[in-house]
Amino acid sequence: MSGFDKTWLALREPADRRARHGGLLDALASYVRGLPDPLVLDIGCGTGSTWRSLAGRLPAGARWLMLDNDPLLLDEAARRIGRDAGVTFRRHDLNDIDALPLEGVGVVTASALFDLCSEPFCAALADRLASARCGLYAALNYDGTMRWTPSHPLDAQMVALFNSHQHTDKGFGPALGPDAAVCLARHLAARGFTVRVEDSPWHLDAESAELQAQLLEGLRRPLLEISDLPEATVDGWLEYRLGAIGTPGGSGLVGHADLLALPA
Ligand SMILES: C[S@@+](CC[C@H](N)C(=O)[O-])C[C@H]1O[C@@H](n2cnc3c(N)ncnc32)[C@H](O)[C@@H]1O
Repeated sequence: MSGFDKTWLALREPADRRARHGGLLDALASYVRGLPDPLVLDIGCGTGSTWRSLAGRLPAGARWLMLDNDPLLLDEAARRIGRDAGVTFRRHDLNDIDALPLEGVGVVTASALFDLCSEPFCAALADRLASARCGLYAALNYDGTMRWTPSHPLDAQMVALFNSHQHTDKGFGPALGPDAAVCLARHLAARGFTVRVEDSPWHLDAESAELQAQLLEGLRRPLLEISDLPEATVDGWLEYRLGAIGTPGGSGLVGHADLLALPA
């Protein structure tokens, strides 16, 4: 079980949808249209956000295999997508990369996954993708950028601390955190893939108040775990940031990168 909460995934999904890089989505759709019998493998599928973002753009006959190690999220994905839409749901721990079912798969997709992963995981996945001549669309990899207006003197320190915490083990060994897209791109390019990486930031305004609040509240535990800052300092900063949500001129940006790697 991963501990990702379906409520959090539902909250971030609209912001993710707006953030996905349109040019990469178009390029991916065009690639899949050229495949004879397209099968898409979505890894770390959660409740199916990637499927919902892509299904309308891909050929109607495209089949999907959705993998996650969390049975509750898989159940929720099946409930929301339905079981007769050419979509199969399977429990799989991605750490078992040798058993990743790539037979017949044209493209692997993932969203908000690779910042949790380690470099050895990315290298092993790149090997398997290269052997199978399979493309990869990896969206919404956190890139280490968080900015807010109005600013606070502790913003940069808090982001730096959070980014250090992003490198701690999230179930795959030492996590790449903000380095994920660059590392993945390097491993895939070294194996002959044509790789594009594009920015896909969340632009957070008053309409995404709940997302901003939960994002900030989710920083508290990592900040206290990674630093010896007094709780009162972290809480004071959070109180300021939470208070700024929805105020005139109050906004935020969280940086991500989307990657599309296609076999040569
Ligand atoms: C941040 S969520 C993203 C979910 C979904 N792709 C989305 O964009 O909403 C990360 C997902 O990776 C899954 N995950 C984490 N570790 C995993 C593992 N070892 N094997 C399979 N799935 C894993 C989690 O269960 C979760 O669904």
